Amino acid sequence: MSVHRPAQRVTVPQLMAYKGTRKIAALTAYIAPIARLLDESVDMILVGDSTAMVGYDMPDTLSITTEMMSAHAAAVVRATQQACVIVDMPFGSYQQSPSQAFANAAAMLAASGVAGVKIEGGRVLAETTRFLVDRGIPVLAHVGLMPQYVNTMGGFKAQGMTDVAARLILEDARAHAQAGAFGVVLEGISEPLARQITADLDILTIGIGASPGCDGQILVTEDILGLSGDRIPKFAKRFGDAAQVIRDAARDYAQSVREETFPTLDHCFGVRPKA
Ligand code: KIV
Repeated sequence: MSVHRPAQRVTVPQLMAYKGTRKIAALTAYIAPIARLLDESVDMILVGDSTAMVGYDMPDTLSITTEMMSAHAAAVVRATQQACVIVDMPFGSYQQSPSQAFANAAAMLAASGVAGVKIEGGRVLAETTRFLVDRGIPVLAHVGLMPQYVNTMGGFKAQGMTDVAARLILEDARAHAQAGAFGVVLEGISEPLARQITADLDILTIGIGASPGCDGQILVTEDILGLSGDRIPKFAKRFGDAAQVIRDAARDYAQSVREETFPTLDHCFGVRPKA
């Protein structure tokens, strides 16, 4: 099935209009060459703070800074023309107060040109969502398994597995919806709960380890490309093997250098063309 794609960049209201009409495909990107390749296929690109772990080999997402995220986001925006680009607000840049969140979100939007921000957190951050949205910054909330809460969660574990825990996550998502979020990422929660949130709320649900019933899906691009090492999360699926492509190219290059078949004079400057 071919999907009609607009020539100009997808906006947040356009994304919202897809609810109940067609599924949204989203992926993460942190750098221009990857973003450029995703742009023709996905509706939304998230410049995720997962780059801390995926791109910088940090143990968690807590140490990435606003400046680092802004630089990645600016690269992704420059490299794309169609996808709606959203950036993750890093840990510590929005939890203190709504005005702290606004100052940092506005700076990130100004520095990068993204269309909105994602924040992790439950009901307690709904006031922040309201503050940002009322001042012109679209917000994608993120509930359930929230990697920035790794220390309070005691690890990266699926959430909402009891009735009580599930009800609290539903309330978290509802609070952000009532505060004006355009969507909510549902990460690592029970499938029936994700389905229920999608049915109950009129904002977008973007699932990762959630449910096929969500309004859209997101995965970390390196996971679908086989670039995350041997361990692939249960909720992800490998759709290609870029690791093999890179290994083969690096091996062929190194061999050519050692065998002196690369470079040739064709790759050099100041060489007279043969008569
Ligand atoms: O940081 C990230 O990449 C994310 C997605 C996995 C949803 O938050």
